[in-house]
Amino acid sequence: MERPIQRTFFSIFLLAQLVAAAPTQATTQACTDITNALPGKVLSPGLLALEYYLEQIPIVNFATRSGGHDPNVGHATVEDGILTTMTDMVGLTYDAMKRVAYVKPGGEWNDVIGDLEPSSVTITGGRLGLVGVGGYLLQGGVSFLTAQEGLAADNIVGWKTVMANGSIVNLDATTNPYLAQAMRRSGSQFGIVTKYTVRVHEIGDVWGHFCIYEDSQCDALYAALHNFVGNGARDPKAAIIFSDLVAVEGLETRLLYYFYDGPTRPTAGLFADFFNIPGLICAPKTQKYSELLKSNGEPARFLNSRVSFRMYSEIRTKLAHITAPFLTLLRPTSQFSIDFQPLPSIIGKISESKGGNAMGLSSSYPDRIVLEIQGSWALASDDAVVYSLSKQLTDWLDEQVPKRLDEAGMSRDMYLPLFMNDAAGDQPVTKSYKDHEKFKALQRQVDPDGLFSTRAGGFKY
Ligand SMILES: Cc1cc2nc3c(=O)[nH]c(=O)nc-3n(C[C@H](O)[C@H](O)[C@H](O)COP(=O)(O)OP(=O)(O)OC[C@H]3O[C@@H](n4cnc5c(N)ncnc54)[C@H](O)[C@@H]3O)c2cc1C
Ligand SMILES: *[C@@H]1O[C@H](CO)[C@@H](O)[C@H](O)[C@H]1NC(C)=O
Repeated sequence: MERPIQRTFFSIFLLAQLVAAAPTQATTQACTDITNALPGKVLSPGLLALEYYLEQIPIVNFATRSGGHDPNVGHATVEDGILTTMTDMVGLTYDAMKRVAYVKPGGEWNDVIGDLEPSSVTITGGRLGLVGVGGYLLQGGVSFLTAQEGLAADNIVGWKTVMANGSIVNLDATTNPYLAQAMRRSGSQFGIVTKYTVRVHEIGDVWGHFCIYEDSQCDALYAALHNFVGNGARDPKAAIIFSDLVAVEGLETRLLYYFYDGPTRPTAGLFADFFNIPGLICAPKTQKYSELLKSNGEPARFLNSRVSFRMYSEIRTKLAHITAPFLTLLRPTSQFSIDFQPLPSIIGKISESKGGNAMGLSSSYPDRIVLEIQGSWALASDDAVVYSLSKQLTDWLDEQVPKRLDEAGMSRDMYLPLFMNDAAGDQPVTKSYKDHEKFKALQRQVDPDGLFSTRAGGFKY
């Protein structure tokens, strides 16, 4: 453990000026205190870098931001408060002897994966290279390597963390397995992480990219998806993201991202079944992992800047129905999608063997699909409408799914827990965790004054 008074290297954006209303006195005072603590380093709202002592933050709200891809208002953003950003903390070092990478939270997966590639290793991380690193690793992270290695967070064995009391602690999975478990999937609630120690995975050329299908292939694709997911990842090197898109005027398309951890895909088996279905455009090929992630990310750069996520169970028709009045020619670039993300049972086994996570994935975990409901739109004036559309859909699911589980004689909460990386801010993510009470108690223990639980952005216990 290191001493409490340590200089940290976060960048802070003082956001007071970015909101229309004048900042509260507490915020102004906080900004002044930080300025005084670090003369000459303070940023005005013009967004420069600044270093500060975490302890100096007085009673104001704050948020921490790594990549800033969490679309929920108040998670990686703050209104009238302090935003700590990791913009200057980018990059990694690799220890070939210990087979771990020391990864900084700023930057994007493109940087991390590219830096590791010359050593023929990678870490379990994002599937679109442009996604942020820090928040992804704290929230859990589904990766193309997840059926082989578990969630991204399962592979972290150390977190250099600024705790609520200002101490900088090297949390270590070996010496503190209980806290380590909590750090996996609790988001921002245990501290601000400035470095992750992550186990590596050997990698060479991979095979993948996306195919786009006509609507007429829908049933064949669903059948292939069903078989692929329902078999516990028979071939853990294979991964897919199955995206059902609804665009303007209700136009539907299916976009599937494929991945195989090897230079060529298998020609037989459940994964190969997808390739008997003709695609309209099919781009998978053999390439470097970093090249694949980079090209997978490119289409997302052109998404409208406003994005919302919700996840849950089945639904495309309901989605098309609910969004129809919104997806008119007046909003030509808007679209919604439901992404079906396989989470085969094998992941629970791997997760448990690596020390477990707060979400509670264990060896008794069944084959599942994480549902991500995504929307993309252009105008801020449409924010409230889009949130209400996605909420209509998740409210409907919350009503329908337990009913259908009852009918099937299955446990009502089979469709939980919720998946933090893709959840909307008002969804009770940590409450859906099996051991919610246990981790909540631990959170209160390390944060007795409620710095993170009451004043910081993000999902709360
Ligand atoms: C295009 C796109 C593709 C995506 N693909 C995937 C995918 O393949 N798999 C997947 O699982 N998810 C995916 N996501 C979701 C993604 O994991 C989350 O949006 C995640 O929050 C992004 O990480 P970030 O660093 O940008 O987080 P941020 O938005 O910076 O932060 C997210 C949360 O974590 C907190 N936080 C961030 N950094 C720190 C830190 N250093 N210490 C303490 N708290 C911190 C923030 O306060 C906030 O509450 C995708 C998102 C997008 C937009
Ligand atoms: C700060 O909190 C951490 C985590 O609870 C604890 O290990 C450490 O001893 C505390 N440090 C001080 C100086 O109180």
